[in-house]
Amino acid sequence: MRSLGLSRNRCLVAGGAGFIGSNLVRALLARGMQVDCVDDLSTGRESDIVDLKRDPAFRFIQLDVSNAEDCTRFLRRHYSQVYHLACPTGVPNIELLGEEMLLASSAGTYNLLKIARTSGARFLFTSTAEAYGDPQVFPQAETYAGNVDPVGPRSAYEEAKRFGEALTCYYGRKYGVDARIVRIFNTYGPRMSPEDQRVIPQMIGSLINGQPVLIYGDGSQTRTFLHVDDLIDGLLTVMERGSNGEAYNIGGSRQLTIKQLFEAVKKATGLSGRAVFQKHFISDHRGRWPDTSKVEALGWSQKVSLADGLREMYAEFVSSKDERRSDEVTLVASFAMNGRSGRPQARV
Ligand SMILES: NC(=O)c1ccc[n+]([C@@H]2O[C@H](COP(=O)([O-])OP(=O)(O)OC[C@H]3O[C@@H](n4cnc5c(N)ncnc54)[C@H](O)[C@@H]3O)[C@@H](O)[C@H]2O)c1
Repeated sequence: MRSLGLSRNRCLVAGGAGFIGSNLVRALLARGMQVDCVDDLSTGRESDIVDLKRDPAFRFIQLDVSNAEDCTRFLRRHYSQVYHLACPTGVPNIELLGEEMLLASSAGTYNLLKIARTSGARFLFTSTAEAYGDPQVFPQAETYAGNVDPVGPRSAYEEAKRFGEALTCYYGRKYGVDARIVRIFNTYGPRMSPEDQRVIPQMIGSLINGQPVLIYGDGSQTRTFLHVDDLIDGLLTVMERGSNGEAYNIGGSRQLTIKQLFEAVKKATGLSGRAVFQKHFISDHRGRWPDTSKVEALGWSQKVSLADGLREMYAEFVSSKDERRSDEVTLVASFAMNGRSGRPQARV
């Protein structure tokens, strides 16, 4: 049963309307926590949390975490845990929203660390596999310092996260905030938008729409893939059992080339289609592969197989497409009944 009104059970999730955040918020509510979710909706969708607004344990506040003034009101609240996931994502957004990425991970991290400090809350910063840049060492353990070009085309994201990590550790040491970092490797699963340009939704979406699947480069670059349920389990494990000032990799264990991923997606969905190969619009990394022994030592393990996860995501995309189509039919019918001309926009 959910406990009522105890501040020690309240947590703050920044970036809670995003793909990972909206899954995390649900997991925390299911554990009996009260959740304040803050998000500026730059890359997240309010529709992913709108059903939660009926839950008295949930509050949504739209704001930008890099705005210090907007964040001061949270200094008077009491949280037991603060999760910082707020950052625009997606490789195309590195060019479009690079400044926002840098600010969310610098000023945003600072503002949220201050809230954790005044609350006495534990703090978790979500970093990324991209903190290792274009790695020269496989697999990547947390002790590997990475291979990052600080002025390269991906630096607005990579260096933003590296700065966020440094600030989290420094602030924790100086002010005694119990803070930890998770370096997230490619994650997929429910509540990824069909418009998301990350590789799995992009492949499934293109196959469903009968379009060729775009693969950057020759498709020999490798990645690992983790279902979001396993990631959430890892975030909760690190928040509860991780050590102050430490970074933990969380990601899938099996390396696949992007061409192998394409075959796995076709097999899991039963769809057929062809790939088109195109030079990447930005520099790409040849591989990413996490050494997860540190988080495994806390009791975490990957549970969802890629085949099961892909089948589940395919089913979700098909049903959301059906829903959109029926919304469209209803809207067209109601416009027709009202005698108005013009085709309404379908909700996307
Ligand atoms: N999904 C992955 O595979 C992956 C991999 C590595 C790291 N990460 C990290 O995990 C976190 C969550 O990623 P996601 O995949 O859910 O992405 P997402 O884009 O779906 O979620 C990020 C959320 O943060 C919000 N946001 C952005 N800037 C903000 C700001 N200044 N103030 C308030 N809210 C802001 C966005 O609106 C969005 O809802 C991000 O920090 C991301 O860098 C994700």
